[in-house]
Amino acid sequence: MTTSTATVMEILSEIQIVPVVVLDDPSGANELADALVEGGISCAEITFRTAAGLEALKALRGRTDLLLGAGTVLNAADVDLAADAGAKFIVSPGFGPDVVTRCRERGVTAIPGISTASELQTAVAAGLRHVKFFPAEHAGGLSMLTALSGPFPEVRFMPSGGLRPENVNTYLDHPAVFAAGGSWMVPRAAIIAGDFQEIARLCAQTRSQLTEHKGKNQGSI
Ligand code: 3PG
Repeated sequence: MTTSTATVMEILSEIQIVPVVVLDDPSGANELADALVEGGISCAEITFRTAAGLEALKALRGRTDLLLGAGTVLNAADVDLAADAGAKFIVSPGFGPDVVTRCRERGVTAIPGISTASELQTAVAAGLRHVKFFPAEHAGGLSMLTALSGPFPEVRFMPSGGLRPENVNTYLDHPAVFAAGGSWMVPRAAIIAGDFQEIARLCAQTRSQLTEHKGKNQGSI
C-alpha cells in the first residue's frame, strides 16, 4: 500500500528526527525497531550502504508502529527494491532525476539530497518541495540552509550530516526545516554489539531534549 507524500511529511514533521541507520546484519532489525519506538523516535531511514539494509527493510515490512524509508538510494533499480520491500520514503545523498522519476512511478515519497542552489533549483523544477540538505554541517550549516531557503520559500528541508545533540535544536527551530536526520542515536558500533538498550536510551535522550527545548520556546513567547 502506498502512503501519500502529505502523510509521510506529516509523520516525519511530527517525529522531527530521522535516524540514519547502517545495519551490518539484518537479524537485529526488529530489536533495533523496538528500541527506536521505545525511545520515542518511530521512524528510520535504513540505508542501502550495506546489503543488510534491504534485508532489514524486508524483515520490518509488516510493522505498523514505525515509518520506514530507505536511504542512500542511488538509482531507479534500488528504488524498485526499496518500494518492493515496503519503504514509504526514499532518501538519496544527491539529486538523481532517475530516482525521483521512479519514486513517482512507484508512489513513494522522494527526499533527494541537495547542497547547492543549482541542485535545489533542479529539484524544485522537478516538482519537489521536500529535500534533504546534505551534508548539512559540511555544506555551510544553518546559515547555508537559511540562504538557500531565501529564493525557495516553499521548500522544506531535512538537514543531515554532522548533526548532533548540541546543534540539532538550532536546525529544528528554523521554519523551513521539517525534520532532522542523523546517526548519533543509532551508533553503528552499538548496533553491531547488539546493544539496543543503548539505542533506546539515546533516542529517549534526544526525544526529551527536544521536548524540553520546545517547552522553553513556548514559555518564552
Ligand atoms: C546521512 O546520510 O544523512 C548521514 O550519513 C548522517 O550523518 P551523520 O552520521 O553525521 O549523522
